[in-house]
Amino acid sequence: MHAEPDRLVLQPRDVQFDWSGLPLRWIPGEPVASHVINVLHLLLPEGERWFVQTFRQALPLIRDEELREDVLGFIGQEAIHAEAHQGVLDYFTAQGLDPGPYVRHMEWLFRRILGDRPGLSPTVARRHLVERIAIVAAIEHFTAFLGDWILNAPDLDRAGAHPVMLDLLRWHGAEEVEHRSVAYDLLQHLDPGYPRRVRAMAVAGPVLVYLWARGARYLVSRDPELGPGARASWRMVAADGRRGLLPSPVRALRSGLRYLRRDYHPTQEGSTRQAVAYLGSSPAARAAAH
Ligand SMILES: [Fe+2]
Ligand SMILES: [Fe+2]
Repeated sequence: MHAEPDRLVLQPRDVQFDWSGLPLRWIPGEPVASHVINVLHLLLPEGERWFVQTFRQALPLIRDEELREDVLGFIGQEAIHAEAHQGVLDYFTAQGLDPGPYVRHMEWLFRRILGDRPGLSPTVARRHLVERIAIVAAIEHFTAFLGDWILNAPDLDRAGAHPVMLDLLRWHGAEEVEHRSVAYDLLQHLDPGYPRRVRAMAVAGPVLVYLWARGARYLVSRDPELGPGARASWRMVAADGRRGLLPSPVRALRSGLRYLRRDYHPTQEGSTRQAVAYLGSSPAARAAAH
């Protein structure tokens, strides 16, 4: 067993992807698994822009130079993630899969419900900010879980999944594993209390499940190449999980529960060493380095 690297400087990698020729269902013959993963492209552009905006607001509150550097690295990485997934969304739109109604719902959620509330007193504004950071930390637990999964999902390669999409997902997943402690450490820095962490997961976990299920049904029903009777169900998702094409819903739930342990820390999940190794071999990350 190799030791984890001590201290990592988080660096944004300015990746580019060429989507020409990408099928909407990029795992051949697997519409449900493809679209369940495609939900990421619906959720992440708005969600990660909101992460960036929230963490920028937190910068003046940070009293620790290393944490501040990590937060800056996190901001840089998430900003590029949002644009990379936006590129896929734009491509899907050009292919006749209109994400408009779903994306407008995301904009409402992240801008109106979770966004800035002008006119708050400094005390209430700070509380609102820390509450949002707690929600980001809970979501980041799942992005690290998913990142770790995609780095260890050889069945996707065996199923003939599109290599450029796999590289986007693994580059993103590896950076999620790489920066998995930042949101949690920022939350601990601003509020080490246990109740806020639990409360945020109690909100973020179920909302994510709801948004994901809704997104998968949306994509399957709007895919112009699938018939009008096409549908996605939990049974199909669980079956694809058993085949290694999707993360198992039961494992995702168990992972969410681990976040509630008092001695939890994100470093207990996933492998920084594996993430860094993938980033060293990722075609997109290598091209960005030159
Ligand atoms: Fe991300
Ligand atoms: Fe992240």
